[in-house]
Amino acid sequence: MKNILVTGGLGFIGSHTVIELIHNGYTPIIVDNLTNTRRSVLKTLQQLTNQKITFYQTDVLNQEKLIQILHENNIEAVIHFAALKAVGESIEKPTVYYKNNIGGLLSVLGAMDTAHINKMVFSSSATVYGDPDILPITEDAPLKTPTSPYGVTKQLGERIISDVANSNNLKAVILRYFNPIGAHESGRIGELPIGTPNNLVPYLVQAAAGIRKELTIYGDDYPTLDGTGIRDYIHVVDLAKAHVKALNYLEKVKEPVTTLNLGTGKGNSVLELIKTFESVNNVKVPYTIGSRRSGDIASCYASATKAKRVLEWEAHKTLENALQDAWKWQQYNKR
Ligand code: WQD
Repeated sequence: MKNILVTGGLGFIGSHTVIELIHNGYTPIIVDNLTNTRRSVLKTLQQLTNQKITFYQTDVLNQEKLIQILHENNIEAVIHFAALKAVGESIEKPTVYYKNNIGGLLSVLGAMDTAHINKMVFSSSATVYGDPDILPITEDAPLKTPTSPYGVTKQLGERIISDVANSNNLKAVILRYFNPIGAHESGRIGELPIGTPNNLVPYLVQAAAGIRKELTIYGDDYPTLDGTGIRDYIHVVDLAKAHVKALNYLEKVKEPVTTLNLGTGKGNSVLELIKTFESVNNVKVPYTIGSRRSGDIASCYASATKAKRVLEWEAHKTLENALQDAWKWQQYNKR
């Protein structure tokens, strides 16, 4: 298996996965509509890998174009990253989210069917678990009613893929990401938040750089060790490597659908994260304590044992590595 279509391949997780694919002998073909990234990422990817990468600026909703791309490039599997991911924005613009994330998925699945491609890796999220009853969260934990349209699109996306896989010969690996952070160790690719960042690390990095006045910690009265929220922060390069393992696994698996958590198995609080960032980068993070953000939960971290068993994959990079790389990316970015 060689040629892989990567939708959203210039995005945060997609771009890191493209690098890992090339390092492992795959040929990624990128489709991206550039809504949440920049064209310059392509150039950087080519420089970092020393390879020319085929890129199509197109929307996954354009099914005709997708079918053409699949045929033209002799694609054998699809990694489908392309989607909108801002939780708050999804509440303000639900139709935009349903159209892009659900419509986009249906378009990709339809194109794959037409082109007789039966292997897919899908980006899902720990958000499908809602507020978990038991920690660490295992893959068989009940899925809760999502609190945002974004969460609905991930739950429904998983369901659609399962239905399709059970009705024809599609084989899929569904990857539930916990909290992806960090950047490539070169510091030359990373997350490109457009406007004010919503997620903790992009905001914290900008506060440390003086672009934002201060980080607001959303609540210090949670039932956790220091009162701040606990999450499972996973380095984006570790996450990217899991996609390569998932592709290898798809070549031999018999079951239609395999669902896996991608996390470290360890939780860290917001305050721990700030302290770690300050100590590894020797820079202060101005912060204040605010009230809880609506929709947030106290604690969320993965059981990472199934991915280790099934894919022979586990996270190797530390929180320290991730926060150093995130800072390096910020420094590079401001030049
Ligand atoms: C992490 C922690 C906040 C910002 C969301 C989505 C999830 C996935 C990743 C994907 C929490 C606290 C945050 C800030 C803060 N989405 N925080 N001040 O909410 O765990 O997950 O992003 O694409 O589906 O739900 O991530 O980074 O926003 O928050 O104190 O300015 O940091 O309360 O405890 P979250 P996050």
